[in-house]
Amino acid sequence: MNNLDAFIDNLQAEIFDNAKQALGERGFLRWRNPKFNGRMEDPDGYGKVNGECGDTMEIFLKFENNRVSKASYFTNGCASSTVSGSFATELSLGKNPDEIADITAEDVLNFIGRLPKEDQHCASLAARTVQEALSNYMSNQQKKDI
Ligand code: FES
Repeated sequence: MNNLDAFIDNLQAEIFDNAKQALGERGFLRWRNPKFNGRMEDPDGYGKVNGECGDTMEIFLKFENNRVSKASYFTNGCASSTVSGSFATELSLGKNPDEIADITAEDVLNFIGRLPKEDQHCASLAARTVQEALSNYMSNQQKKDI
């Protein structure tokens, strides 16, 4: 291994250590493997919210028998927003509209386990985006009923 390779390996190890400390083991693993990440074609409910930090979160929900059968998210934000989007998406799976309406930033945060204090608004951005996707679904349903 040459000096540059060793330097890069050390740098990566340091970044991973810092991320593990900031996000906890569960959040770190999710950041490395962001489940449910990606845009969905033709969702039944779609939400897009711009956070005060300038980052954007999108949530896509597909329903079957009035329960979420598929869900995904997309964000251009930080590691904490990636983790928050992923866990918020997971929280909505299998739920009906009433149950989704109960999903809060605190639920997302508890599900992750921990986020740095200065990044806790990322969980709130994810929860708000889930609610936006739900309200889009509800208004699409109403239009179908008319
Ligand atoms: Fe903007 Fe994380 S969502 S800092």
